[in-house]
Amino acid sequence: MSKKYKLKIRNREVPKKINADLKSRMEKIIIIDFGSQVTKLIARRIRELKVYSEILTLKDLKNLKSFDTIKGIILSGGPSTVTKKSYAKIPREIFLKNIPILGICYGLQLLAKEFGGVIDSIKSNREFGRATLFKRKNSLLIKNYINSKNKTVWMSHQDAVIRLPKGFKIIASTKESKLTIIENIDKKIYGVQFHPEVTHTDNGSKIFSNFVFLICKIKDKWQIDSEKKRLINEVKSKVKNDKVICALSGGVDSSVVALLINKAIKKKLVCIMVNTGLMRKNEFKFTYKIFKKKYKLNVKLINASKLYFRKLKNISDPEKKRKIIGELFIRIFEKEAKKDKGIKYLAQGTLYPDIIESRSATGSRSSKIKSHHNVGGLPKKMNLKLVEPLKEFFKDEVRTLGKSLSLVDSIKNRHPFPGPGLAIRIIGKVTPEKVKILQEADDIFIKELIKHKLYDKIWQAYVALLPMRTVGVMGDSRTYEYTCLLRSVISDDGMTADYFNFSKSFLDEISNKIVNGVPGINRVVYDITSKPPSTIELE
Ligand code: XMP
Repeated sequence: MSKKYKLKIRNREVPKKINADLKSRMEKIIIIDFGSQVTKLIARRIRELKVYSEILTLKDLKNLKSFDTIKGIILSGGPSTVTKKSYAKIPREIFLKNIPILGICYGLQLLAKEFGGVIDSIKSNREFGRATLFKRKNSLLIKNYINSKNKTVWMSHQDAVIRLPKGFKIIASTKESKLTIIENIDKKIYGVQFHPEVTHTDNGSKIFSNFVFLICKIKDKWQIDSEKKRLINEVKSKVKNDKVICALSGGVDSSVVALLINKAIKKKLVCIMVNTGLMRKNEFKFTYKIFKKKYKLNVKLINASKLYFRKLKNISDPEKKRKIIGELFIRIFEKEAKKDKGIKYLAQGTLYPDIIESRSATGSRSSKIKSHHNVGGLPKKMNLKLVEPLKEFFKDEVRTLGKSLSLVDSIKNRHPFPGPGLAIRIIGKVTPEKVKILQEADDIFIKELIKHKLYDKIWQAYVALLPMRTVGVMGDSRTYEYTCLLRSVISDDGMTADYFNFSKSFLDEISNKIVNGVPGINRVVYDITSKPPSTIELE
């Protein structure tokens, strides 16, 4: 679901829900989050192996009632340091459960500390960036891992273990750090100082597959499409005879939510589509047709584009734009929900990363970059209960679920689109004329990407309209028109991104097509910054 339609809910009781789910599920790996920026990637890597994994905070861990189905525990990295008096710990009982444990970075240091090792934070112990691994001893954890091709690992640590705890052995080292991989076979405890979860580490997945299959001996396979039945049944038994309202944007998340709930409760699902006038060319009509005609959903259209343009008149500030668009949407949606007394539930396309991001491992708040990263609040008076069937899934898993629900490819594989739509891709003031110009340019870019079979290789691509005019020459005449910017990135999850490397001929073709085909644009530029330091959207 596009985040515009994600009406963020206060007081989401995440830990209780996760614990309830943990009881009834298949074999799994749990990841204890110590606050690393990349903890999410650990869960992804494990799920890529078709093994179910969940991220727990220390609080979740303390509330956990049963460890029956937990076959392995991974301790993430994090900003804490065991060299201080007070540091983030796990309860000692965990070590008595005979469940294999893998510590990553801070996780390794924590394990070493708990078993009597010495950790130091002197400057010479620091390692940031790539390092080369040397094998010291065989271990199941590195079986078929270190070879001439795979030996670069990604380091990001200030502290280092300088004395091995009793009972542990060194498996691998780097030039800077002797204790890079350690193990205690008897206790089934392993630690890696580097980050196997990030792509900068060569074949880091092998470390996870060795841990999961050779050490934890997991057999159950997590198949996302076999989850479909369970999700449909869960919606049925939760909602019973009540009605559910759902904001349908045509993004992959809201589309999958709508199809899933429709399978469970049919006509009792009311989908609302709000035309803000800020969607891509033909997107609104196309989405409506698909859901109304092809899937026969109960879709209600609200045309609010005039209202949106009026409220956005003369507004340039990105955060003000977001606020206006978000609030307007809530008001429209609220009004619709109130019209039907039978509606008791609100369906949202909340994804697993949203859940992880809305709770903090350490209690600290990360700095606000853009308001969509922060959890806001839905007016309490709306009084609807939530249905969030996708709350356990990553985006790629939602796409697989979409496939098993026969979601058309053009929606299933659609790039993410921000809630505020084209309003944050028109830098500065938003007018219907500028939206029209942008829609045309964006449509040309996206069609060319599809034609050249590049669209599916790219995580997100779009055109933005810059607030400046420059001089050009077309035929024998001077032009003075807008500049548009092409953005196209590859990414795992939108948290970091790299620009896509187009061929010169592709860029030439796009530039010609846009300048010739879109009156109002006489210059095209390509954004070659990665995230960080830039962000994916310009505003
Ligand atoms: P940034 O620009 O923060 O974007 O690198 C990361 C991802 O989030 C999307 N994005 C938004 N989505 N409302 C949304 O629903 C917003 O206000 C918003 N801003 C950025 C962006 O398209 C990218 O996929």
